[in-house]
Amino acid sequence: MNPFKFGTIVEGDFFTDRVAETAQLTQKLNSENHIVLISPRRYGKSSLVQRVLSQTNRPILQLDLQYVLSVDDFAAQLLRTIFKRFPMEKVRHAMSHFRVIPMISSNPVTGAMEVSFQPTANSSVLLEDAMALVDKVTSPDNRLIIVLDEFQEVTKIKKGFDKQLRSLMQHQKNLNYILLGSQESMMEAIFEKKTSPFYHFGQMIRLPKIPYEDFLTYITERLPNKSTQVAEEILGFSACHPYYTQQLSSQVWEMMKYQKINDDVVRKAVDALVSMHDLDYERLWQNLNRTDRFTLKQLVLNRQPLQNRNQATSTSYSSLLRMIKSGLIVRSIHYEVEDPFFRQWISQNILQ
Ligand SMILES: Nc1ncnc2c1ncn2[C@@H]1O[C@H](COP(=O)(O)OP(=O)(O)OP(=O)(O)O)[C@@H](O)[C@H]1O
Ligand SMILES: [Mg+2]
Repeated sequence: MNPFKFGTIVEGDFFTDRVAETAQLTQKLNSENHIVLISPRRYGKSSLVQRVLSQTNRPILQLDLQYVLSVDDFAAQLLRTIFKRFPMEKVRHAMSHFRVIPMISSNPVTGAMEVSFQPTANSSVLLEDAMALVDKVTSPDNRLIIVLDEFQEVTKIKKGFDKQLRSLMQHQKNLNYILLGSQESMMEAIFEKKTSPFYHFGQMIRLPKIPYEDFLTYITERLPNKSTQVAEEILGFSACHPYYTQQLSSQVWEMMKYQKINDDVVRKAVDALVSMHDLDYERLWQNLNRTDRFTLKQLVLNRQPLQNRNQATSTSYSSLLRMIKSGLIVRSIHYEVEDPFFRQWISQNILQ
């Protein structure tokens, strides 16, 4: 079996490093503090949190705010996770304070439980009731952990929702929140802007890439020929980005194992992956305006766009911000194209 995995949460043998982060998160969960975990997309936040959670017996509720459509939906999804996690006898008793009784049904096709409310119910009441139920199911000796993924969406669900949620959360005891987000600038605005309701709500942890030495050993051990040189070439291209490193390693492994390619295998694997995504990249490029294309081109040429004489600094700056927001560019030490395969596509197609 291919020992590399990308796209979904990695566990067990697929998971590497994150020793310090695992310890740090575990420690925080043993306190009354909440955790805010930030990184660019696909750095391994969910995998790290699953790892930490797998080592505890505490009850866990998880919601992804990306899939929450409204305040009512948040309340419904929160209730659904509670009903799934706790025995109905316990929950039924704890719901005696509810002002609006939710309807619970089971989807006969998928078997999934669904929670809904009368359409006329007041959203604030639904939210308050659901959050009050959280208080009742958690206890000092069985403290709940609530994970809210893509938390930056909190500001988009409904105007004022963040404020209301924060005011309900601040009175809760005997639980920890883990709030994850991949849109760094939005997460920073939520937790570091003084006027934001979530200002300094929890301890902020920034997840870096996986350290070079650790990734090098991890890849080398798993390659069919255990070649350190091939592993170095992979990391040279992917710059230790967890997802892209695994994706490229996986392709290299297949080409070595099944096609018996050994010469120049990393370059061939990169070419294969770039051409696999050719159509997506072309579409992506076509949807960009000329300023953004220019900015990307500068980055691929290793030039910092803000120092370019052919484009006003303010124009370059807003272009960078726009693409950081959409995830095409990330900023570590300097600005970079997020996807190294897109970077390669640009250099193959545009710079010819
Ligand atoms: N500790 C790790 N060891 C090895 N590979 C990892 C690790 N963490 C992440 N990866 C790689 O990165 C991919 C993305 O991980 P994960 O889904 O946990 O990231 P995320 O930050 O939650 O992503 P998203 O921004 O999409 O929510 C994994 O599928 C895996 O290929
Ligand atoms: Mg995730």
